Amino acid sequence: MSANDPHRAGLFPHRHLLGIEGLQPHEILGLLDRADQAVEVSRQVEKIRPVLRGRTQINLFFEASTRTQSSFEIAGKRLGADVMNMQVAASSVKKGETLIDTAATLNAMHPDILVVRHHAAGCAVHLLARKVDCSVINAGDGQHEHPTQALLDALTIRRHKGKIARLTIAICGDILHSRVARSNIILLNALGARVRVVAPSTLLPSGIDRMGVEVFRDMKEGLKGADIVMMLRLQRERMNGAFIPSVREYYRFYGLDAEKLAYAKDDALVMHPGPMNRGVEIDPAVADGPQSLIREQVEMGVAVRMAVLEALAAHLPNH
Ligand code: CP
Repeated sequence: MSANDPHRAGLFPHRHLLGIEGLQPHEILGLLDRADQAVEVSRQVEKIRPVLRGRTQINLFFEASTRTQSSFEIAGKRLGADVMNMQVAASSVKKGETLIDTAATLNAMHPDILVVRHHAAGCAVHLLARKVDCSVINAGDGQHEHPTQALLDALTIRRHKGKIARLTIAICGDILHSRVARSNIILLNALGARVRVVAPSTLLPSGIDRMGVEVFRDMKEGLKGADIVMMLRLQRERMNGAFIPSVREYYRFYGLDAEKLAYAKDDALVMHPGPMNRGVEIDPAVADGPQSLIREQVEMGVAVRMAVLEALAAHLPNH
């Protein structure tokens, strides 16, 4: 079956991946199944599976990234694409070129896939998708969504626990500013998990209780019986004003150390999307400890991005 076989296109009937919202559970599971195969490919000496040979992928990151940008580059190259990382800091964006003009300029170069990270929540990536002819992947837009992060988290969980449904998953920390939390809540609910959020009131968005989660303000209560403890970075760069009394107090009440982890199940696993603030939301001994999946999440990131690129490849026109 070729990458743009109509049957394959039917398995993931979307030209873009702008968020987890709007995806059907079977589409999510299909991407996870593809990603499982990509893990095997990535662990071989010969890692190239050229379903994107001759295609051009542009990575356009308006916000800093280590994991997402590098794994999209590796994923594209493993699928045979020509990958261009646009250096936004050294581009004409710095001379005042608008997002739309940047999009039109890149569109004129006939890319096949545009991977975009932007600070504007819920609008910039969607606007771009309407303005270009190619497929667009959201690599994180402000506090809105980070769909490939949620997919790689789900893949990591499923590979360890064998399922997502009926697991108790506690997402802890700066929920308010987190696109990772939002995408994970949507995805984990879609796949039947019991999702909890644990945070001080100041770091909980209004209306969070309407997202199908149980809300806790105390780590002991929130972690009790949890299968997965997902810690989030305190996003100080998105904070205007005092959301926490001090980092020291935040760590005391919400930082994950061995004592708090002991409230969860004995076989609970610890996750963090990265980058971590060690000693702020997580004790280094837990981050590097036997229950941590944090490094494995990075490996799954490449596999999930290969799966997403491959799924979208099925919709690229045959020239
Ligand atoms: N998790 C994540 O998005 O990491 P980066 O910001 O390094 O891409």
